[in-house]
Amino acid sequence: MKSLWMDTGHLPYFPPLWGEAKADVLVIGAGMAGILCAWTLQQAGLSCVVAEAATIASGATGGTSAKITAQHGLIYHTLLQTQGKARAKGYLEANRMGLEALSALAASLDCDFQREDHIVYSLTDSTVLQRELSALEILGYPAELVTGLPLPMPTAGGIRFPNQARFHPIQFLNAIAQDLTIFENTPVRRLSGTTAFTDHGRIQAKYVIAATHFPFLRLAGGYFLKQYQQRSYVIALKGTPRLDGMYLGAQPNSLSFRMQGDFLLLGGGGHRTGQQGGGWAELERFAGTHYPHAEITHRWAAQDCMSLDQMPYIGPYSHRMPGVYVATGFNKWGMTTAMAAARILRDQILGRENPYGQLFSPSRHMPPSRAMANAGEAAKDFFALSPKRCPHLGCALRWNPQEHSWDCPCHGSRFSETGKLLDNPAPRSRKEFR
Ligand code: FES
Repeated sequence: MKSLWMDTGHLPYFPPLWGEAKADVLVIGAGMAGILCAWTLQQAGLSCVVAEAATIASGATGGTSAKITAQHGLIYHTLLQTQGKARAKGYLEANRMGLEALSALAASLDCDFQREDHIVYSLTDSTVLQRELSALEILGYPAELVTGLPLPMPTAGGIRFPNQARFHPIQFLNAIAQDLTIFENTPVRRLSGTTAFTDHGRIQAKYVIAATHFPFLRLAGGYFLKQYQQRSYVIALKGTPRLDGMYLGAQPNSLSFRMQGDFLLLGGGGHRTGQQGGGWAELERFAGTHYPHAEITHRWAAQDCMSLDQMPYIGPYSHRMPGVYVATGFNKWGMTTAMAAARILRDQILGRENPYGQLFSPSRHMPPSRAMANAGEAAKDFFALSPKRCPHLGCALRWNPQEHSWDCPCHGSRFSETGKLLDNPAPRSRKEFR
């Protein structure tokens, strides 16, 4: 169940906080977003500390596909239709900025960084590709329609974003975490203003960034209403033909492909947390059919926060919490968007203008129909019968037979068989499981 990244990468150890610490900025969470925020702010001359409840990259970052790209499915036609040209173009530019900034940094470090094209393919429907290409033309991006893809199954072609990138995220974090002040195994239990209280100490800061995957600091900001979580699955295969480029299917739940050294990483099988999906079995069936002689060397799963309008939430946490900022809702694109978030939050903390600050504001208007649909999904599970209830807001937990965990369909908290908290926003483990 260890990801290829965690199996082949190395991370430094940082002791927990005992006592007091002080800094300009406290970053809560040592995943890609938290580490990049701290690193970026430190480069700008601010002192930072990072408090991590477990260990570096032990959450979503350890399970990423580690693609660095501004191509997030066939998103630009949808954004153009639903949010207009200015917002669609802003999303594209913010992610191109994230791509270039992260690539420049990664290229200077020992982290298997490599430039590579990213292609979103469609299995049978070329009209969706034409539509996306037209949207990208309107936005001024030089994408290309390509056919004859080197994938193991027939496709109708794809849209190619040239010169995107990939890297080894754990080697990358290992390189940049060395210069940061990080407290591992230091869960923040509560905030009073911008002072954080941990199990054995206190951190005083002028500003706080919650980079905790799903925000869990009180109910302020209503994040439990405006996002949900999704699980997706990856297997690493050895002994496949080499594949140039990175690929993602256009249709929901289609497969993702990329190489890492000699390994082919095959992703897919996703579903809303707490519901059923294809999981590893779907990937293994595909691998058995198309790569019958390959060996499966690693299996892992990732959990992602999904916003309701396909844009992340980056900016002030809530008007009720001055000095506190958030970065979440990356919709599975946490590498590129994390770098965009680090730049945006740096500028907001320093009082500088940032062209994307308003675009991703967590307090932006959300279409009521989507908020209602998300709340409706959660309400079904609030009233459902189950022997176990979630300590977050009391929804019924569902047994996940693939991963042997109790998962909450409402907002995505997960617990081990014995009740240990695996994924937030629930603030604690379920003691009564034991
Ligand atoms: Fe919110 Fe379970 S995660 S009720």
